Amino acid sequence: MTKVLIVYATDYQNTFKMAEALAGGVRSVADCQASVKAADAATFDDLVAADAIVLGSPVHMGSIDWRVKKFIDSCCSAAWMKDALVGKVGAVFATGSGFGNAGGGCELTMLALLNNLAELGLIIIPLPKSTPGYTTGGLQWGPYGRSANPKLEPVGVNEDMLSVARHHGIHIARAAKALQGARIFG
Ligand SMILES: Cc1cc2nc3c(=O)[nH]c(=O)nc-3n(C[C@H](O)[C@H](O)[C@H](O)COP(=O)(O)O)c2cc1C
Repeated sequence: MTKVLIVYATDYQNTFKMAEALAGGVRSVADCQASVKAADAATFDDLVAADAIVLGSPVHMGSIDWRVKKFIDSCCSAAWMKDALVGKVGAVFATGSGFGNAGGGCELTMLALLNNLAELGLIIIPLPKSTPGYTTGGLQWGPYGRSANPKLEPVGVNEDMLSVARHHGIHIARAAKALQGARIFG
């Protein structure tokens, strides 16, 4: 069984919905299971047990939510000390309200998360532009949810965005399954 851990934080449930959609994609791949955990509940042992690790964050002041960052600075850095996550598969997603469309900080948030995953030695799965729904809810770094409409009213993430997250889950699960047991790094 290939295990995908999805760690997220949320205030208004949009990032949670993206996490659940991504988990749905993972679960649609044979022999793959997804575990969705809030950042303040996820543990070092969860990280070590996973074949793939996905970090999802709301955009807060143009960057990572503090709860996700706390998880990175505590559990992930403990894993960094032991090289415990090297060679696992990693991926990210983010949800903003969309001030300036995806320019409201989703891109920077995902890049910051990817930087952390690279530091941990994970094999990063990008989001190709061929992914269905990419033009609505995708950046090359991963799926992004936009929870406000162009008038900045909070309408929540839409089905297109959730669909991109679902497809990303499929890609991540397939990659983790293909790489399971492979020794890529010395
Ligand atoms: C403290 C705070 C800072 C925020 N900063 C931004 C921001 O810089 N850019 C943006 O697009 N949205 C920003 N938002 C809006 C959230 O990203 C948006 O509501 C998102 O949907 C939250 O995800 P959630 O529904 O999972 O809580 C901010 C929200 C909060 C609470």
